[in-house]
Amino acid sequence: MNLDKMISPQTIEQITNRIDIIDVVGEFVKLKKRGANYLGLCPFHNERTPSFTVSPSKEIYKCFGCGKSGNTITFLMEHEKYSYAEALKWLAQRYNIEIQETEVSDETRVIQQAAESLHAVNNFAQKFFAEQLLATEEGQSNAVTYLEERGYDLNTIEKFQLGYNPTQKNAFASVAIRQQFSQEILLKSGLVINRNDELIDNYRGRIIFPIHNTTGKIIGFGARVIGKPAAAGPKYINTPENEIYVKSKILYGAYFARHSIDKNNECFLVEGYTDVISLHQAGIENVVASGGTSLTIDQLRIIKKYTNNLTIIYDGDAAGIKAAMRGLDMALEEGLNVKLVLIPDNEDPDSYVKKVGASSFREFVAANKKDFILFQLDVLLKEAGNDITKRNVVVNQVAESLSRIHRAEDFSRRQAYIHECASILKIDEHGLINLVNKYINDRVNKDEKQRINKPETADVETADPFKGEDLLFQPDDAQEKNVLRVLLEYGLNQWNEEQTIAEYIFHELDQFSFDNAEMKNLYGVYRRHYEQGLNPSAKTLLYHENAAIRTLVVNVTMFPFELSRRWDEKLENIKVNDVDTSLQDVAMSLNYFKLRKIKRMFEQNQRDIEQTKDWNKLLQLMELHKQLKEEERKITDQLGTVIMK
Ligand code: CTP
Ligand code: MN
Repeated sequence: MNLDKMISPQTIEQITNRIDIIDVVGEFVKLKKRGANYLGLCPFHNERTPSFTVSPSKEIYKCFGCGKSGNTITFLMEHEKYSYAEALKWLAQRYNIEIQETEVSDETRVIQQAAESLHAVNNFAQKFFAEQLLATEEGQSNAVTYLEERGYDLNTIEKFQLGYNPTQKNAFASVAIRQQFSQEILLKSGLVINRNDELIDNYRGRIIFPIHNTTGKIIGFGARVIGKPAAAGPKYINTPENEIYVKSKILYGAYFARHSIDKNNECFLVEGYTDVISLHQAGIENVVASGGTSLTIDQLRIIKKYTNNLTIIYDGDAAGIKAAMRGLDMALEEGLNVKLVLIPDNEDPDSYVKKVGASSFREFVAANKKDFILFQLDVLLKEAGNDITKRNVVVNQVAESLSRIHRAEDFSRRQAYIHECASILKIDEHGLINLVNKYINDRVNKDEKQRINKPETADVETADPFKGEDLLFQPDDAQEKNVLRVLLEYGLNQWNEEQTIAEYIFHELDQFSFDNAEMKNLYGVYRRHYEQGLNPSAKTLLYHENAAIRTLVVNVTMFPFELSRRWDEKLENIKVNDVDTSLQDVAMSLNYFKLRKIKRMFEQNQRDIEQTKDWNKLLQLMELHKQLKEEERKITDQLGTVIMK
């Protein structure tokens, strides 16, 4: 469900016209001017000498240390973990642009209104509870004393915005009603309950832990009894599911942990609120809590936004480990590296860090990290004992798990696991490889069937929004990407008196086609927009509604940075002669593109020649061979003259 309002295209245009990348990035990173660019310490990794470069003219940034790159919006999305719409709203606020929203359906409007009211009531409640904790006698003597006994200092209490709900039956309900919050919203928020037609506080006498989403908004609360829970009552009461509190999407502490996870390139996962808070207080900030339930795909994706390395830290006998295991296959699918650390002696991370201190805690974690796949194998093997049938089941389970590691870039990781698991299982490695492959093939075939059975609604523009992100890893696409770059950058300029560069490119590429589906898609979108008179450019398409297009536009715009130094130098040389480089750039890019395509055709033709037995056909192929050679020579000649200039 999408709670973001639809921001009107006019507003988006206003915002993007105002964007000043130096101003926005400068808000978070100290930048110094260096020639045409700005330089600073990269906010995405730890470094001592600055390699984070921002180009005001291109409106992009790039870190030459860690490789992170993008535009103003992606910076906000990456650094603040905003959604696309949230980033736009942030900018609108900064530039005093009034946001106009386009019509949304009635159903969506109702959900949005409920969500807004819930945010408002939660905000109000948090302030109320914090004041009750810190500024009332009851709060001090009941709750602050308890928190201090547990070792939490005032800084920590304030940072996590902890609070206290007094024991009086309607301390909160009465002020909330006075504030005109509707009964319906109050009930929905879980802050109050209805008893005999009277609204009373749900968290009476409890310590309040506000729960934030990844952008820092309060979406709900956990409320803990003070001291030992009574036999009958629960230790924690949590917000019921509502429009903004969706348990499966919540990772407690993610908002406070986000920068630290980025910097450490590792996320610690613990079970409880107090584990997160104690570790923070000890200076270990890259930590989130799942609430002890099994990890969901949405939670894993939150983690994945920040890092690929997940380290689960549970107490040794936690039921949580079993729960976490259920999420393992999903974690592998997502390409996460999952490690496990068990805390000894009936301690949990909260009590253990208090007992041994931060540095011993860190050392313990580093020394006792177990690979989660191998851990799971260990557990399963122990359960199976010497029973041959059960051990067979284990082999299949492990093979199935390993088959989830199927991304191309994870290939060697999978091989290493297979090697290790085969030796633990005392089975033949090739046998295990075959079994894993079988599981992969089974799934591919299943997906394929599903795809074929689905009606083909796929307007390419709504294709999988995440696909574009892999583009940079496909070096074969370089020439296609480069043509898109010049198209986006110079398309609207004149090629000559008769035609624009866009028109020239369309004409030149008439005989050729893009191999990469995403690039082909962007080319098509550009062409359509152009033909509709929409004046497309990198800047307008950066804000295209489709995320795959936006990502690809960023990648394409960033492309000069990825190009070989030689290419840059070539262009620099031309600049020295004061020629308009854009036309040369276009010509060169088209030539390299064609050259590549011709090489491909050439290779194909070569194969055909080797295989054909038909004499006439062979003559045709030989003719084509000659033509392709000729084309190739023409182009290399042209490229040569450009390079020589
Ligand atoms: N939890 C819950 N409801 C309960 C018990 C637990 O929602 N009745 C969730 C909470 O998110 C809690 C986590 O499970 O933080 C772990 O539970 P537990 O280990 O019992 O609590 P701690 O967080 O360790 O709290 P404390 O240290 O105060 O006992
Ligand atoms: Mn605890």
